[in-house]
Amino acid sequence: MMALRFEVLGRFNRARAARLTLPHFVCQTPLFMPVGTQGTIKGLTNDQLEDIGCQIILGNTYHLALRPGAELIDDMGGLHKFMNWKRALLTDSGGFQMVSLLHLADITENGVTFQSPVDGKPMLLTPEESIQIQNKIGADIIMALDDVVKTTITGPRIEEAMYRTLRWIDRCIAAHQKPGTQNLFGIVQGGLDPTLRDICVRGLVDRNLPGYAIGGLAGGEDKDSFWRVVAQCTAALPEDKPRYVMGVGYPLDIVVCSALGADMYDCVYPTRTARFGSALVPEGVLKLTHQVMSSDERPIDPTCTCMVCKNYTRAYIHCLVTKDAMGSQLLSYHNLSYMMRLSKDLHMSIVEGRFPEFVQEFLRVQFPKGN
Ligand code: GUN
Ligand code: ZN
Repeated sequence: MMALRFEVLGRFNRARAARLTLPHFVCQTPLFMPVGTQGTIKGLTNDQLEDIGCQIILGNTYHLALRPGAELIDDMGGLHKFMNWKRALLTDSGGFQMVSLLHLADITENGVTFQSPVDGKPMLLTPEESIQIQNKIGADIIMALDDVVKTTITGPRIEEAMYRTLRWIDRCIAAHQKPGTQNLFGIVQGGLDPTLRDICVRGLVDRNLPGYAIGGLAGGEDKDSFWRVVAQCTAALPEDKPRYVMGVGYPLDIVVCSALGADMYDCVYPTRTARFGSALVPEGVLKLTHQVMSSDERPIDPTCTCMVCKNYTRAYIHCLVTKDAMGSQLLSYHNLSYMMRLSKDLHMSIVEGRFPEFVQEFLRVQFPKGN
């Protein structure tokens, strides 16, 4: 059973532009999904997110289960209703967040064990529990619990994690109570090893899931290895299902991965870098904290039509940034607007058959010296 429709509207070589119909919203791909850990995108209201064209936001099972708790969200009628977000939602399964945030997390065959940050008690998140919690949260897309290891480690642990991820997918499928309204995506693991990635892709494709994610990347590996894994996985995944590269990323990575046939992305980068005073612009990154900004009367990006670029100067944002919450709010608004515009530009350029020209121009502006 599937609760989505994925219609490819245009292609250019491996790149695709599609319409992804989810229970709560019809999305266009390539698609960037902002991360709202606690059921909010830090510093932006739902109306603002809609204004900038945000179609789907991401929540984390681990954070939501701790606070306010899955039971409460369930009692409130699900996360959509609780946070009054009418468009699509995706929840990550929790294992990755625990392992990356809590150094005390430990993975066994039964699940991820960790110390509760609330009272220090040992806790266990099994594949079944992750799905149960995600069923209560009620997102349009839910993620399987996977065994994630850093791509920078080597040896038998990579293989163990990949096979465990495949064993866990069956426990996730069996535990999933709402396949008619929530889409369970599997996650390809296997580190940088092409043989392991291949086994994992085949195993997941055999389960005929509504969509597939490529996991275990953006963890410090070099770009060449990263793009090679994405290229291998997208080539082996079904044409008629969405492909989601987890934890990516930088605008350049999104452009490259889209060229390789990926459709969906999520990353804290645009909002996190905003809180450190950085704006995403076509040329790369603009540091608003820099002293030269203090008297610069231009908008952040003169080519941007967002509310912030229409109303505020670099000088004003420089004055607020790192001193007042409004500084990072305005920068987050602009940065997410930039990511939404990039997603839309990718979509339109593929549909209109001018994807190579778009990529060429993107690269020329970002790397004017040709490097
Ligand atoms: N977020 C970024 N990478 C990953 C991954 O490999 N697995 C999960 N579950 N979430 C992620
Ligand atoms: Zn702007």
